Amino acid sequence: MKTIITQSHEEASARVAEMVGSVVQANENACLGLATGESMELIYAALVKLFTEGRLSFRGVTTVNLDEYAGLPPSHPQSYRAYMNRNLFDRVDIDKSNTYVPLDLNPDPGSGARTQGAFQAFLDAHPRDLQLLGVGANGHIGFNEPGAFFESNAHVVALNERTLKDNSRFFSSVDEVPRRAVTMGAGDIMKASRIVMLVHGTNKVNAVRELFLHGRVTPGVPCTILKLHPDATVVLTEELADLAGLKR
Ligand code: GLP
Repeated sequence: MKTIITQSHEEASARVAEMVGSVVQANENACLGLATGESMELIYAALVKLFTEGRLSFRGVTTVNLDEYAGLPPSHPQSYRAYMNRNLFDRVDIDKSNTYVPLDLNPDPGSGARTQGAFQAFLDAHPRDLQLLGVGANGHIGFNEPGAFFESNAHVVALNERTLKDNSRFFSSVDEVPRRAVTMGAGDIMKASRIVMLVHGTNKVNAVRELFLHGRVTPGVPCTILKLHPDATVVLTEELADLAGLKR
């Protein structure tokens, strides 16, 4: 794994956006694996800025998102489809028919009825040039929660109590957070040619320690699988690196 340590979250986000931008500049038909969450917001803002300055076009780009809550219609403001439209797709020149956000097994019938199987078929047909990742406080990537093994393919997952609590800040109460989600598997994530993970937030300190201070790769902390990828970059701030006790 490569590591980039920055002075601020803004700088970290700008560095990640530059990496995404250079993939698209090198290949206007690139396929990007995208992520959601607070960690990604400034990255998308930086990409929108590159677009509005005329330095980047998404016209030929295809995107596929990591995951989606089960049971939230795309029109719900906390669905990942709504998040992606709001933060990126509605603000750049991407062709929305080339953007894929996986939906529930019981999707809104008007949405195209994309199932878990359809999600896997899409992933198999669209290798990612770059996969963007955030990480959960418990080390989850996408919605691959800590467990006894790594699930390789797209699957439906029951969200961990910690994740429900962490993500309740986007809803009016924890009871409103969907309890299930569909996610790319760890194997799907690892198939991307390049992975860039932004670790944002001091609640991620344990994930940082597991990534950098311990040698193990364990499904108990799913992000540790990145240690096995030939081109993975982890970006974090000095504050988080110091808190985790990383030597610099
Ligand atoms: C969610 C998403 C993850 C994301 C994580 C961290 O659970 N499924 O893909 O990495 O949250 O979110 P945040 O960036 O808001 O801390």
